[in-house]
Amino acid sequence: MKIIIGSDHAGYPMKEKVKAHLSERGVQVEDVGAHSEESVDYTDFGKKVAQKVSDGTFDRGILICGTGLGMSMVANRYRGVRAALANDLFSAIMSRRHNDSNILAMGGRLIGDTLAFQLVDTWLETPFDGGRHQGRLEKMDIG
Ligand code: RB5
Repeated sequence: MKIIIGSDHAGYPMKEKVKAHLSERGVQVEDVGAHSEESVDYTDFGKKVAQKVSDGTFDRGILICGTGLGMSMVANRYRGVRAALANDLFSAIMSRRHNDSNILAMGGRLIGDTLAFQLVDTWLETPFDGGRHQGRLEKMDIG
């Protein structure tokens, strides 16, 4: 599975920790930045990740800003992207099982590191249920 990750300045510290956590588990990720806590626009980094998931270059994306809100909003404008804002475990699990989410958005200012690692691990491991949920996904893209 090819994974791409991005953040803004508010999500940068958590992005670095998530990358280290995944690296310890042998999971490599492509990092599009931000590369410091210097103020940037979450839209720019959300777009970089969402574009590469939308065009199939990467299978999954992880986005971290202060709340996860702005990142999920911009990512969901890309065709084929199903970005889930999940700052709790149940949402992360259900976003995979029922929605086949391909981007996980989290709030670096809202949750602790341990929960973030659990969210990422669970989200990467939980399969899509398929079945009746597949047809619902096919109705998502408009135009
Ligand atoms: C940055 O201050 C903050 O607005 C951003 O990280 C994010 O929470 C936006 O949705």
